[in-house]
Amino acid sequence: MRVILLGPQGAGKGTQAQRLADEVGATHISTGDIVRAEIKSGSELGKKVQDYNDRGELVPDEIIVEMAKPYLDDADAWLLDGFPRNESQAKSLDAALDDIGENLDAVVALEAPDDALVERLSGRRQSQDTGKIYHVEYDPPSEDGDDPGPFIQREDDTEESIRRRLEIYHDQTEPLKDYYAARDLLITIDAEQDIPKVTEDILEAVDRKDDA
Ligand code: AP5
Ligand code: MG
Repeated sequence: MRVILLGPQGAGKGTQAQRLADEVGATHISTGDIVRAEIKSGSELGKKVQDYNDRGELVPDEIIVEMAKPYLDDADAWLLDGFPRNESQAKSLDAALDDIGENLDAVVALEAPDDALVERLSGRRQSQDTGKIYHVEYDPPSEDGDDPGPFIQREDDTEESIRRRLEIYHDQTEPLKDYYAARDLLITIDAEQDIPKVTEDILEAVDRKDDA
């Protein structure tokens, strides 16, 4: 399975990719997680990308493509979360798939209005131990303590950065829906439903596409 998850910040790309990866046995590749891991490592590359990340700007295409490529090459089945984000990155992905003679199965667009997204992002927490994404109200860590945390807020979940990320999404990433619809790969999902229902709808729609 090779599926792209598209959607604005807070639509649930990371949340759904984590759930689907377990369900279908595919690797979750999040370019945002790759960027944050590089920053945490303190490397020169990490220092270079930190400023873009914290301001909510896109990391330049040539840098992000180089960072993502080893992960794409390593896995046979993946769920891509946060990549591609513009037409240039989509074309790099097309070329990489051509090289290995593989196809995309589907592009899942998670749709939710901007005002719902800001509320989700301000309550988001991510476990430093497991990387799992939570929400203080909608999806809190379980009380039996199976995830020790700590549960931290992302540096880029400030109001200013969220606004900038949404602006870039509508300007550069959303047009990819047309790019993939023209190739009959696009599936749109109502991401305002609760988390398990969104997972169910994605699985059903991808299955239907497989059978078509
Ligand atoms: P990235 O980490 O990808 O951040 P993002 O695009 O801002 O998206 P988010 O992670 O904020 O949203 P999400 O859809 O994953 O939401 P989540 O599932 O967490 O990128 C970060 C930065 O890295 C970029 O700004 C850029 O600098 C750089 N970068 C990354 N990729 C790049 C690329 N390709 N090119 C250039 N630069 C790149 O859910 C959010 C919250 O909502 C959670 O709390 C969750 O519990 C909750 N929630 C989820 N679903 C539901 C639901 N159905 N109901 C209620 N709550 C829900
Ligand atoms: Mg995410």
